[in-house]
Amino acid sequence: MENIKSYVQQHKDRFINELIELLKIPSVSADTAYSQDVIDTAEAVKESLSKAGCDYVETCDTPGYPIIYGEKIIDPNLPTVLVYGHYDVQPPDPLELWTSPPFEPVIKTTDIHPEGAIFARGACDDKGQMYMHVKALELMVQSNTLPCNVKFMIEGEEEVGSASLAWFVERNQEKLKNDVILISDTGMISNQQPSITTGLRGLSYVEVEVTGPNRDLHSGLYGGAVANPINILAKMIASLHDENNHITIPGFYDKVQELSAEERAEMAKAPFSLEKYKNALNIADVYGEKGYVTNERNSIRPTLDVNGIWGGYTGEGAKTVIASKAFAKISMRLVPNQEWEEITELFTKHFTSIAPAGVTVKVTPHHGGQGYVTPIDSIGYQAANKAYTETFGVPAIPVRSGGSIPIVALFEKELKSKTILMGFGLDSDAIHSPNEHFGIFNYLKGIETIPLFYKYFVELSK
Ligand code: BES
Ligand code: MN
Ligand code: MN
Repeated sequence: MENIKSYVQQHKDRFINELIELLKIPSVSADTAYSQDVIDTAEAVKESLSKAGCDYVETCDTPGYPIIYGEKIIDPNLPTVLVYGHYDVQPPDPLELWTSPPFEPVIKTTDIHPEGAIFARGACDDKGQMYMHVKALELMVQSNTLPCNVKFMIEGEEEVGSASLAWFVERNQEKLKNDVILISDTGMISNQQPSITTGLRGLSYVEVEVTGPNRDLHSGLYGGAVANPINILAKMIASLHDENNHITIPGFYDKVQELSAEERAEMAKAPFSLEKYKNALNIADVYGEKGYVTNERNSIRPTLDVNGIWGGYTGEGAKTVIASKAFAKISMRLVPNQEWEEITELFTKHFTSIAPAGVTVKVTPHHGGQGYVTPIDSIGYQAANKAYTETFGVPAIPVRSGGSIPIVALFEKELKSKTILMGFGLDSDAIHSPNEHFGIFNYLKGIETIPLFYKYFVELSK
């Protein structure tokens, strides 16, 4: 532990500068304008893995963006840790809300990060957290303390649904064989209270299109006499929740795994202040499904949210028009054991059925994935908890997160191993938002904690 700490102290400036260089490349997977940057980022990751000590690295071509694979096999009889992360990032917009440009990383202090945080798109999600693993490998190789084999699989399409990764995993089961999968792409409660993510929500993402008349119409000449697709879409969306904020799609809750009273009581023990939560978001009150508290609403309960809605005239001034079409993008966060394909079908059937005769509805599924829960009695969980306990001085609390990493359920199915989610981000790090950042404390703590996971995982596997 002391050796780990001193290595990190000695090399921290370089660790920070290397991450800053990686953050300068705008690897936005959702926007093809950035495709060369995404590819360049993959190459930068590959080079960093070689430099850190992998003895084999490879750019694996896929139908989409490349996957970077790297490994260091010290003894086939020892356990193998498979590290997964992603080098792609979310689009940075709205640009005008950033206090410094998203791909020009700078270190600034915040109330929560008095020692400084790196501000850039991808700082926390996931370049910063992924790169902790690269530096942890360097540390273990340099100090001759790598206790087992390690494989890396770093993809470039996580933010757009990981389609190529699913393709890759199905075709490379032998290559990816492992004893545990380790991911840092989630958060923790606070810098004083580490937590380990034991659950992720699934996802069904759809786009809907409502079409009324065959052309945009004068809203005076036709208003009141034909269905306005925007009015209709708004009404249809509003009807998807009832007065208790339950989702009204028939069958939606059929497979939802309900938690026992004991499990809910256990969850309620995690430190949480509703006042702080409201203040941080500048809202007068929280809102959600009746019968559940905030920490349940955003983790163990499924949801339906409009992510974007458009149609008609949105330019300057006024234009009197009834648009021919209206659109929305809708995400449903799912919980175990909801099947995402089935939910997509239930949504499509219901949404189409509630449309009045004056419009037609088209539903286009985007991507999806299953939710995930992992037990806390596994060797991997215990090893992670011992590692956090050592570096933070207090044990980690198990927490189910509301976010999704859809590929995790597929890992379990295809590779038959458990995933340990050792996240070091904070909710306030603003992932997917303007001014995303990652605390220097968190970054360095991650690099310190990861080698201890390896150490305890190998010890407990004996
Ligand atoms: N790293 C996040 C997921 C996450 C963040 C989980 C914090 C738990 C805590 C990941 O990059 C992400 O954004 N996932 C997407 C899903 C994907 C299919 C676009 C999400 O959750 O919206
Ligand atoms: Mn991520
Ligand atoms: Mn993300």
